[in-house]
Parts: sequence; C-alpha cells; structure tokens
Amino acid sequence: MSPSPSPTASAPVLGTPGTTSATKVVLLGSGELGKEVTIALTRLGAEVTAMDRYAGAPAQQVAHHALTVDMSDPAALTAAIESTGARIVVPEIEALATDALVALEETGRVRVVPTARAAQLTMDREGIRRLAAEELGLPTSPYTFASSGEELAAGAARVGYPCIVKPVMSSSGHGQSVLRGPDDVAAAWRLAAAEGRVDRGRVIVEGFVDFDSEITLLTVRSRDPHTGQTVTSFCEPVGHRQVDGDYVESWQPHPLPHEVLQRAQQVAAAVTGALGGWGLFGVELFVCGSDVLFSEVSPRPHDTGMVTMASQRLSEFELHARALLGLPVDTTLRSPGASAVVKSPGESEPGAGVIYQGVAEALAVPGSDVRLFGKPEAHPGRRMGVAVAAADDVETARSRAREAAARITVARADSADRGAAAR
Ligand SMILES: Nc1ncnc2c1ncn2[C@@H]1O[C@H](COP(=O)(O)OP(=O)(O)OP(=O)(O)O)[C@@H](O)[C@H]1O
Ligand SMILES: [Mg+2]
Repeated sequence: MSPSPSPTASAPVLGTPGTTSATKVVLLGSGELGKEVTIALTRLGAEVTAMDRYAGAPAQQVAHHALTVDMSDPAALTAAIESTGARIVVPEIEALATDALVALEETGRVRVVPTARAAQLTMDREGIRRLAAEELGLPTSPYTFASSGEELAAGAARVGYPCIVKPVMSSSGHGQSVLRGPDDVAAAWRLAAAEGRVDRGRVIVEGFVDFDSEITLLTVRSRDPHTGQTVTSFCEPVGHRQVDGDYVESWQPHPLPHEVLQRAQQVAAAVTGALGGWGLFGVELFVCGSDVLFSEVSPRPHDTGMVTMASQRLSEFELHARALLGLPVDTTLRSPGASAVVKSPGESEPGAGVIYQGVAEALAVPGSDVRLFGKPEAHPGRRMGVAVAAADDVETARSRAREAAARITVARADSADRGAAAR
C-alpha cells in the first residue's frame, strides 16, 4: 500500500475573515474539542463555520458561522460543506458520511484534514485495525470480527477469554463489554447491537490486554517551513485512566523507558504516515513491559490531550490549527500537567441548560484552570467540563486537577436560576 499523499502547498498565506480573502475552514462536529480548535483557528485569522447535528453546540458558540446538518447524510453533508465556500474541511467527530468526504476531496475543491481516507478508515474499527495490523504489521491485541451472535461465540473462543467486544462504529466506550467466558456472549452481542453508533451489526473481538499503562502519543504531521516537506513531531506521552471505556483523568508527561518511547514513536509514525496529510493525531497505545501495542488513533485532537492546555507551550488544539493551515509547530512541554473531567450526574431541564457550582472554589486550587463546555443539554455521565492543572511534578498536578474537578457540581437549572451567572 502506498501512503496517502501529503499536501505539498507552498507556504500558506492567510486572509481576513468576512472578506473575499478569508481563509475559510469548516468544522464537522462542534463539541468541546472543536470549540478549542475553533478558538485556535480564529486566533490565526481563519474564518470558521462550525457544523453539528444540533444547534448551539460548543464550537458553534465561538465560530463565525454555525450550520445544523445531518452529517451522516452524504448529500446533505456535501451541500452544507459547499455552501460555506471553505477549502479546508476539518472532521471533529467520527460519525460522518465519509464516502462523501472522499468524493469531495477527489474534486480537488477541498482538502480534508488530515485526509478523507483517514476519516474513513478511523470511523470504523475494522478499517483502522486491518491497516495497522495487517498492512503495516504493527503489534496489536489479538482480534477478530463478528457479524452475529454465533460468529461472536466462535470468535471469542478463538481470541480467548477474557476478551472485549466493541461495535465497529462506536466511541467513548459505548456498547463495549468484557467477556469472561462463553456465558457472556449473548449479553455482549445484545449490548453492542443496541449501543453501536450506526448499527451495522458488526463487532470487533479483542483479547484483553493486561497493560502496565495506556498512553496517548499526540503526533503532529506538519509542513517544515525550511524544506516544504511534511515532518512528524511528537508530544511527550499523555498517560490516562479510563472508567467504563471513558476517560476520567490524564497527565503529561507519562514517563517511559527510552526504548519503549522510541518504539511508541515508531508505531505512531507508521500509522500517521499511512493516514497522511497535515494535522494532529491521538495515537492510543498499550504499554506492556517493553512491548508497545497499537490500540486506535484519532486523526484529530484527543480528549485525553486536553491536559496540554496546562502542560504545553502550544495545546493540542493550537498544534492542530497550525498544522492544518500549513504552519510550523512546536511540541515543547512547558510544565508537568493533568486534567480531570467534570460530568453531569443527571438530565437538564429542556431549554434551561445546567449551572456549574463551585467554579470559584475550583479556581482557588493552585495552578488550576477550567473549561466549561457550554453544552445546551446534560445527560447522566455526559462530559460538561474539564479541570486542568500544572505543577512541578505530575503527581501534584494530578491531585490538583482532581481536586478542582471535584469542587465543581453540575446541577439542574430551573426557573429560580434564571440569569444565575450574572448575579
Ligand atoms: N483490548 C483491550 N484490552 C484491555 N483494555 C482495553 C482493550 N481495548 C480497550 N480497552 C480499554 O477501554 C478503553 C476504551 O477503548 P477504545 O479506545 O478502543 O474505545 P473507544 O470507545 O474508542 O474510546 P474513546 O472513543 O473514548 O477513545 C481503552 O482506553 C482501554 O482502557
Ligand atoms: Mg479510545
């Protein structure tokens, strides 16, 4: 397989928003990560349209323009992108009509970040796993795919117990379960079918990896201003802890022996090189002794990388914005840092949003900062904010971020809270 082509444009020239010279970017998906990407892009003078399936999404609140579109509908997605006049298309979520992105990119009218093929392969666990393991020969957990309960039973027996079952189209742990033995197969199949994002009735079965740690290696492919060639840079590894397949805290740097770090960088360079283009990638890796296993990759900023807002000279969002515009990057760590998520315990009242209590107390934690995402609706377990903290060492940063996050309560707003923030 030949790697996807890299953009080879000459040094970029940036225009002025709202004029005919504007450098127009359209963001597909407008969550909390897209909100930070939008802020970073607008600081560099880009004109941003933020698209989502619902109105008032976080990035739409800070972008120049907002569009509400069913982005899984190929015709609707294509028409919406073309209506913006943007030449740069930045997928922020996986659940997109990626065939439409491939077709649009082929017209030469737009550049998809990092590439349309990267968006297509990574939205489907089968696509990216087969690329990494079978084409690139990277080490992964043992795996197989199944399209029925019977195939799952046979697949799990082949892979061995314990194993993990995940819908091929899903994220944030949705529809995943750990199987201890054959008795768990039927329930795992039902859960995957019910919670997969697009029910394709297909799952991956992965051997359970008893890892020592799991890391995200933020990897940037950007244009070298001296040579015009694409270069690959690595951030310090981000360590993280997941509960039920969803991230709860992360920290940077995560110490690794030199040869393990080298192996991790080799794996990340191989997979991001195959996906091609310019941008930041979150390469998820399991570290087991001196072995490094590839798990998955996001061709965009990664939720665990929110820590970089406290720890790096340029956050992962600023790195993505620079790289996708063809500008040079700097992955320097500024200080050890950590992040801890703030989740909603319950549902919000329609139209009322939520209120965040304890923010002043959170910001009284030394070295801390918070991001409140501004999502118009809350559901139990939905991520509504994040606390980040810097410190002289990672352990202190972790306890500061956890403490700051713990001091924030996401509460139901009702009519008594009208205008609460203004008082
Ligand atoms: N084969 C495995 N062995 C052990 N643990 C695993 C395995 N696969 C996944 N996990 C655990 O479950 C978490 C979520 O898995 P994965 O990243 O594949 O799913 P996801 O739904 O894409 O999550 P996200 O979108 O939040 O990254 C991993 O970060 C890891 O902690
Ligand atoms: Mg993951």
